[in-house]
Amino acid sequence: MPAEPPQSARQSTSQPTQQPTQQITVSKVAIASDHAGVAEKARLVEWMKGQGIEVLDLGPATDDRVDYPDFAAKVAGAVTGGTVETGVLVCGTGIGMAIAANKLPGIRAANVTSPEFAALAREHNDANIVAVSARFSEPQTNERILATFFSTDFGGGRHAGRVQKITDLEAGPVGHDEETASGATDR
Ligand code: RB5
Repeated sequence: MPAEPPQSARQSTSQPTQQPTQQITVSKVAIASDHAGVAEKARLVEWMKGQGIEVLDLGPATDDRVDYPDFAAKVAGAVTGGTVETGVLVCGTGIGMAIAANKLPGIRAANVTSPEFAALAREHNDANIVAVSARFSEPQTNERILATFFSTDFGGGRHAGRVQKITDLEAGPVGHDEETASGATDR
């Protein structure tokens, strides 16, 4: 079995290459949450407005219990429809929101818990939605995540073909076909 690369080497290949200028280049953002994320959403809306970003708050307005896929779909629709350049989703973990948003063609939603992952989600994956956690990430961390996400460009180059392959998967799976692999093609 090949030896694992040393920790330092593994780390160096997955560090963002862009310097964190924190020069926000996004001007209009859609945001939504579920009940678990509604307070953090309200806070992030104010933070974004303070950064000069036009914010489209797609709800909910209260902390009454709601289902996160309904609100993930609203932001995903605003991104794919071209109403906004990028989207923010907030739920307890960010996980359910990201899973739901990624069901829509054209969406690359990343569940992000650190500024480093925010930079890599943009630089390597051209993510167009960032999903953050209201329950497990500190408010200041979420602000740094958004600042980084909004200020990091897609790296292109070797990443472009891989992102294209993600898009290609929207046409259907290209996985292992048991029948073809075993030669059982005659039924
Ligand atoms: C709600 O309890 C919680 O499941 C939701 O906010 C989110 O964390 C799901 O992924």
